[in-house]
Amino acid sequence: MKVGIIGSGGREHALCQSLSKSYKVDEIFCFPGNAGTASLAKNINIDLENFHEIKEYILDNKIDLIVIGPEKPLVEGLVDYLEEFKIKVFGPNKKASQLEGSKIFTKQLCEKYNIPTAKFGIFKNINESNKFLEKAKYPLVIKADNLASGKGVYICENIDQAFIAVKEIFDGKFGATDNLLIEEFLEGEEMSFFTIHDGKTFKNFDTAQDHKRVLEGDKGKNTGGMGAYSPSRLINKNLEKKIIDKIIQPTLKGLSEMGTEYKGFLYSGLMIVDNEPYLIEYNVRMGDPECQTILPKLKTDICDIFISCCKQRLNEINIEWFSKKSLCIVICSKGYPESYKKNIEINNLDKIKLNSDNFLFHAGTKIENKKIYAIGGRVFNFVSLSNNFADAKNQIIDNIYKLDWNSGFFRKDIGYKVID
Ligand code: AMP
Ligand code: GLY
Repeated sequence: MKVGIIGSGGREHALCQSLSKSYKVDEIFCFPGNAGTASLAKNINIDLENFHEIKEYILDNKIDLIVIGPEKPLVEGLVDYLEEFKIKVFGPNKKASQLEGSKIFTKQLCEKYNIPTAKFGIFKNINESNKFLEKAKYPLVIKADNLASGKGVYICENIDQAFIAVKEIFDGKFGATDNLLIEEFLEGEEMSFFTIHDGKTFKNFDTAQDHKRVLEGDKGKNTGGMGAYSPSRLINKNLEKKIIDKIIQPTLKGLSEMGTEYKGFLYSGLMIVDNEPYLIEYNVRMGDPECQTILPKLKTDICDIFISCCKQRLNEINIEWFSKKSLCIVICSKGYPESYKKNIEINNLDKIKLNSDNFLFHAGTKIENKKIYAIGGRVFNFVSLSNNFADAKNQIIDNIYKLDWNSGFFRKDIGYKVID
């Protein structure tokens, strides 16, 4: 069969590679893909905002299944649009995607269904926000309501930082907005918990922990993710049951009472405080780089899983995993998450020797005349599987030194909580 993947990051390269191993998949298309997907799939250069053109290409080329990687087309309703033309799509519809598209939507759902989360307030303008901030306790968290690629969140240590955050958000740094969220700061350890859904059933899809801050020691600005490891060191049966009973199930009930269901990956971003889960945010997709970290451990054919979801037969499939540990380190362009140079050539990729436990997923790269260029903030993901995290990390570091790309940087402390 023919499968199409929407997106161009490391997550999509990892999806592409897993799909390429399926005995069912004959041809893969990536919209628009990157230099990594180009070696496994046909990259199709269509603007992801142009739903009409995407649909025409899918119908003209008789693509049997579409898998959507990033949040933006999901939140904008690409699933609903393609399904109108009877195209099979794996991903949540527009209504369900509000779980990520609007933080306020999710907070109100949490309130209504008693889902554990940080206490919060919704504020409509600078004056109202600042009045609250003058009396508040610090640290606290200020969030833009819009999609902001993980960057619209400010952890404020004091009132001056909070005033700046409020001004930037209402000035439209993350797009025009009518309100923002101010949240209690939760002290704990973060964990990403993944589930896969067919609208009727859902199954666990492993756990991970990522490093969102740009600097070593988890300091500096928030990024899309600088590295990750799987499984999370926090997960245990008792915690898993609490996450499902207190967070996932009530969310699905809420969506069902709103007249919709959830199909696709669901990423619960949690803060774990004394073995109790609190929902920080939902993402309506796999995480990036968590997806690259988790998928190499998947034993079951991913295409079978997607098809079973589209047929609402996820209950019939057993999702199996290799019991190895997986670690991922992201190589970024110098300057990320602020401004960085684009179109920098990358040499030495041929020096990297990968074995069946080592993976190199491209993110912000393009290929032109057989040369590879960096065009994004996050450029590569090195992933290794091993019986322990330390080993996995050593294999990655060896490969990064072979790449020797001096326009890039990476965090050398990824996984420090699971490595002595
Ligand atoms: P979000 O985009 O909502 O996931 O927030 C980005 C990051 O900010 C999270 O991964 C956390 O590290 C941090 N964060 C968000 N909300 C809170 C909170 N209420 N308490 C503590 N940290 C938070
Ligand atoms: N790694 C965080 C995210 O995908 O949002």
